[in-house]
Amino acid sequence: MPPYSDDFGPFGGRIWLNAASIGAMPKVAIEAAHEAISWNVTPSHLSEEIFHDVPLKLKEALGRLIGTPAQEIILGNSASYGLHLWANGLPFNRGDEILLVKGDFPATILPWLGLRKQGIIVKEIQPKGPVLHVDDVKAHLTDSTKVLCATWVDSFTGFALDVKAIGNFCRDNGVWFLLNGTQALGTRPLNVSKMPVDGVTSCGYKWLCGPYGTGFCWLQPELLAVLEYNQMYWIVMKDDRDFDQIRDYQIRDDVGAERYDVFCTANFFNFVPWTKSVEYLLAQGITEIQQFNDKLVERFLQGLDSNKYSVLSPKECPERTAIIIVSHRRSDHNREIFHLLTNNGIDLALREGNLRFSPHLYNTFEEIEQTISILNNSK
Ligand SMILES: Cc1ncc(COP(=O)(O)O)c(C=O)c1O
Repeated sequence: MPPYSDDFGPFGGRIWLNAASIGAMPKVAIEAAHEAISWNVTPSHLSEEIFHDVPLKLKEALGRLIGTPAQEIILGNSASYGLHLWANGLPFNRGDEILLVKGDFPATILPWLGLRKQGIIVKEIQPKGPVLHVDDVKAHLTDSTKVLCATWVDSFTGFALDVKAIGNFCRDNGVWFLLNGTQALGTRPLNVSKMPVDGVTSCGYKWLCGPYGTGFCWLQPELLAVLEYNQMYWIVMKDDRDFDQIRDYQIRDDVGAERYDVFCTANFFNFVPWTKSVEYLLAQGITEIQQFNDKLVERFLQGLDSNKYSVLSPKECPERTAIIIVSHRRSDHNREIFHLLTNNGIDLALREGNLRFSPHLYNTFEEIEQTISILNNSK
């Protein structure tokens, strides 16, 4: 296993166990960011090729990440970008039903709620167990169900849903399965050409180690073909005409996913380093990263004093993820323990009253031991 940690940092002497909020960028991405800034320092370096190549290279990397051609990738600035595109652009009629999961992250819920005004029925499924199961979907399926939109790995519980089982059920029943992969992509492999998912969205600044303000989404080609959202970005419509011939306002109808790219698509400062981050992760291997992260998680769970703490996230694979949710047996101590850790140089998150640890490839076993030692020796 390579020492990934050498490729990151410096971390200012702190331990960053918070990839579920923001992931650290690898050194190769930092170098690329410096280069992108240098283009603006000397703007004559901003050639037309750069405008073309920056989004293309990022799409190629993201395409490899999820197993799809680069031209099917839509570049965004967040996970919400894709969710809004779906909610606002897919064809729905009055009475159609959208299924969501109660307790899901708000980014996955809110864009759909606005559709209620149009007579579309939005239902939140309350899972019977700790994570959505195919039986929960079965119990809520009706002839009007059009979409199931859910988050792959839950930010608050650390549970992963069974994408294959749920996706197969949706496919068998003519329901579009749209997945928010924000807390999974970069630490869990996904190949959309083999998995029964119809759409994926993710931000880029967590497990994909990109800068804040990055994201992408993908829709399977038949869905992309029916997506109708009034977006006529002039640079996309310009095609390969020179900049001195752009005032004829042509609307191209031969554009695919790129029609929906976020505006100013050649976003140098964000997309250049993010491309390097994704390429770096791909070079390490997402399965290898998942295995490494799982070893960090295992070490954490083995070391934690179970008399003092309960682990609320899954203890075993396959539901176990790189998000560990812990509560002191007396949950009113959690806030104090959170401050104890941060005062001792360990960064984590306090979510819904619980302690959330999210180690990623740049963390080390020693860092996990140090964290455990503080946790176990707290009062
Ligand atoms: C499941 C999930 N989706 C989305 C987001 C962030 O959404 P956005 O990139 O749209 O700000 C988060 C952030 O914590 C998340 O946990």
